[in-house]
Amino acid sequence: MATTETSPATAAKSTSSQGSLEIRDTRTGKSYNVPVATEGVEGDTFVKAMELRPIKQSDDEFGLLSYDPAFMNTASCKSAITFIDGDKGILRYRGYPIEQLAEGATFLEVAWLLRKGELPSAPEYKQFVHDVTYHTYVHKNIERFLEGFRYDAHPMSMLLSSVGALSSFYPQAHRISDPEQRNIEIIRLIAKVPTIAAFILRHMRGLPFVYPDNDLSYTENFLSMCFRMTEPRYKASETFKRALDILFILHADHEQNASTSAVRAIGSTQVDPYSAIAGGIAALFGPLHGGANEQVLVMLNQIGTKSKVNQFVDDVKSGKGKLMGFGHRVYKNYDPRARIVKKLADQVLAETGSDEDLEIAMELEKIALSDEYFVKRKLYPNVDFYTGLIYRAMGFPTEYFTVLFAIARTAGWLSQWEEMLLDKDQKIARPRQIYIGPGERKYNSKLNGK
Ligand code: ACO
Repeated sequence: MATTETSPATAAKSTSSQGSLEIRDTRTGKSYNVPVATEGVEGDTFVKAMELRPIKQSDDEFGLLSYDPAFMNTASCKSAITFIDGDKGILRYRGYPIEQLAEGATFLEVAWLLRKGELPSAPEYKQFVHDVTYHTYVHKNIERFLEGFRYDAHPMSMLLSSVGALSSFYPQAHRISDPEQRNIEIIRLIAKVPTIAAFILRHMRGLPFVYPDNDLSYTENFLSMCFRMTEPRYKASETFKRALDILFILHADHEQNASTSAVRAIGSTQVDPYSAIAGGIAALFGPLHGGANEQVLVMLNQIGTKSKVNQFVDDVKSGKGKLMGFGHRVYKNYDPRARIVKKLADQVLAETGSDEDLEIAMELEKIALSDEYFVKRKLYPNVDFYTGLIYRAMGFPTEYFTVLFAIARTAGWLSQWEEMLLDKDQKIARPRQIYIGPGERKYNSKLNGK
């Protein structure tokens, strides 16, 4: 799969040996040395799972496998894109702390950074913005395709189908080893996903589609396509514009989460990027992943008033459901994105007027953070706890929230997809299994019996 090009990831690679593990197999009495390696500036140590394969009792045995459902302790790749320290609550893109990027960068600057490894220079950025802007229009057939969906189709179902359908408009996109072809498809995806997303919102509302306005910024153009009515030119609120750009930055990448792993696995078959990204959108749709932002508002609505928060927390503790927007596989500390989102929620809601759900959310957070159940399990608010409140204040319907997440994550998925393609260690993703079904048995049809 790897081409002769090198990924920016290779620059950060320097494996050093850290001694070895001595494994004694008590079944055979044999000993093995499994090298321990350290790699990366943060000094991750690991052993290669393939080093376990020679451990066997006889030559005709397959060899020792590691069993790791849900990849709790397995690195599936080496990546130079995003760094997370879940215990300390640190998130960095290409070394830059998320707080600094959220403070000063634009989403397109971050999209460039994620893919290229360095911040764009002024001319590079100008060209990139131009290229993305130039590709925002979608084929008329995509409009017709969207019109085929029922008025109440879930927006994520529409998004994943439409992005998958884009693959049929760009058959040359399968030339994934051609850097120029990859570049054009990456730009097309970053440019067209917001257009499709906005058309989906208009379809949900039975409103005519609004075409891209190439004089507007990426985020303002998206807001214009979503909300413009009869005015000749849409003027977004400065607070909304910046808040959405920051939310896009915060959601742009998050290393090997479920949807990114899906994109990498699908991409490893060498399919075109539209098909791989459609798979990522499908993975993001789930309520345990990107769909959580929608579920947070559903939960806040169910709670209804601040006075019922205590009862709700007790219900969660007794196993009746989960506190949505809380907990994370990697963060065992406050999700740094959630801190930024909470501040943004204050700013946006100061403009749109107070929101009772925000008060319920804050009460919920206060109670959960001091409750033994959540403290012991290190459950903190994740990025999705407050985002829904902002999206709703901006005028987006609840079931649409995950689409906003997908627009931003497209930049990360594409960077990870390309890094995977250029990584010489990668092959088609194909996990092993531990077979626990019946042994061989003779076929005896039961169809003739009663
Ligand atoms: N509410 C209540 N209890 C929880 C929660 C929660 N949100 N999350 C985890 N727990 C409990 C589990 O029941 C488990 O308890 P136990 O040890 O008594 O069995 C313990 O905490 C550990 O949880 P796991 O499910 O093992 O944690 P895992 O890493 O597998 O799951 C996940 C992480 C899926 C995010 C989980 O915390 C969750 O379902 N959260 C709610 C959904 C959510 O907000 N998802 C968004 C994640 S961020 C993102 O994708 C953008």
